[in-house]
Amino acid sequence: MARVECVDLQRVFSLRDGGEEVAVDSISVTIEEGEFTTVVGPSGCGKTTFLRMIAGLETPTSGEIRFDGEPVTDISPQGRELSMVFQSIALFPFRTVRSNIEYGLKYADVPTQEVRERVEEMASMVGIEELLDKKPPQLSGGQQQRAALARALIRDPEVFLLDEPLSDLDAKLKTEMRTELKELHQQFPKTTIYVTHDQQEAMTLSDSVIVLNDGRIMQKAPPEKVYSAPENTFVAQFIGSPTINMFEATLESGALVADALQRAVPIAEELQARIREKADGGLQLGVRPNDLTRTEDGAEAFLEGSVKVFEQMGDETILHLILEGTDREIRVSVPPSVIPEQGDRFQFTFDHGDAHLFDRETGEAITNGLDTPKPPA
Ligand SMILES: Nc1ncnc2c1ncn2[C@@H]1O[C@H](COP(=O)(O)OP(=O)(O)OP(=O)(O)O)[C@@H](O)[C@H]1O
Ligand SMILES: [Mg+2]
Repeated sequence: MARVECVDLQRVFSLRDGGEEVAVDSISVTIEEGEFTTVVGPSGCGKTTFLRMIAGLETPTSGEIRFDGEPVTDISPQGRELSMVFQSIALFPFRTVRSNIEYGLKYADVPTQEVRERVEEMASMVGIEELLDKKPPQLSGGQQQRAALARALIRDPEVFLLDEPLSDLDAKLKTEMRTELKELHQQFPKTTIYVTHDQQEAMTLSDSVIVLNDGRIMQKAPPEKVYSAPENTFVAQFIGSPTINMFEATLESGALVADALQRAVPIAEELQARIREKADGGLQLGVRPNDLTRTEDGAEAFLEGSVKVFEQMGDETILHLILEGTDREIRVSVPPSVIPEQGDRFQFTFDHGDAHLFDRETGEAITNGLDTPKPPA
């Protein structure tokens, strides 16, 4: 297995009109041996370019890639002991599944008998041993995807790279394959870098999530951390569904004040000092839709709004509320037992500990979880 390091990795494309496109902008990151890392980010943020550089299919403009401390930047893809699975499945349609999987060993020096055994072993691992003599067009999308995985895994790669391998599958198959990939990784903990724009995949599959935007790393952390302790507003808004609610706020006499909020949010003195030190005035207060709790007590409520639309998801109901006296819309998750009607009014409160605070100018997090003032002695 291998530890993958990227040092100041950059890829700039020259465009036909003479301009430049910085697809990956000085990425420095280490992916530990055996770690399952997902790379998420909006379309065009540089995910594929990043992965292709690690694979050796794209040459970095500058920077270095190392496997276990050894530079590989100038080594060909075949020389890197890695396997890659792409978004479009790319099996040979006229060859049998067996022959397609065998192809994974094309550049390896493996005796014929062993090839046969390994193909059968891989096929049974991904559950397609009955399909070895069929051709890809006779297989379902999920079965084809499994064959592609088997072809990639049969090389016994040091590093396993996957670029949106499930994006062509329907929702149910996607979820099934997700679980299978996770099991596969538990069984064979290869260093894996998995690109997706699906944050649910990122959250459920990985040991570590890299959030990419505009060719730069916004945060690398375990899934629960990118959700509960986002380092900036980009990560806070990209991770979590429905999207976090953001309120423009300022610090005024020991409390956070926001137009959207019905009352001020008192905070601890230490935090006030930190805010004054880090931000010169403008703040953003973030509260996730499922951290808002319904209240009937008007004195306790921070927010009041009327239902514009609601979505019943089965396990939760998402309300889109227009805040009292404004045209601001917020999202709130309520239990499915709440049966709303358009125009219904609801009041909500939240715990200090669940709120996030950012510098409005830089977007940097000041704190995840507000500290409350100490009660008077
Ligand atoms: N060969 C190329 N020539 C010029 N520009 C390119 C080339 N390949 C990628 N780009 C540009 O680099 C940026 C990053 O592209 P990339 O394919 O890495 O994004 P991505 O995050 O994988 O997007 P998606 O989620 O849509 O697959 C984009 O703006 C893209 O247009
Ligand atoms: Mg891509």
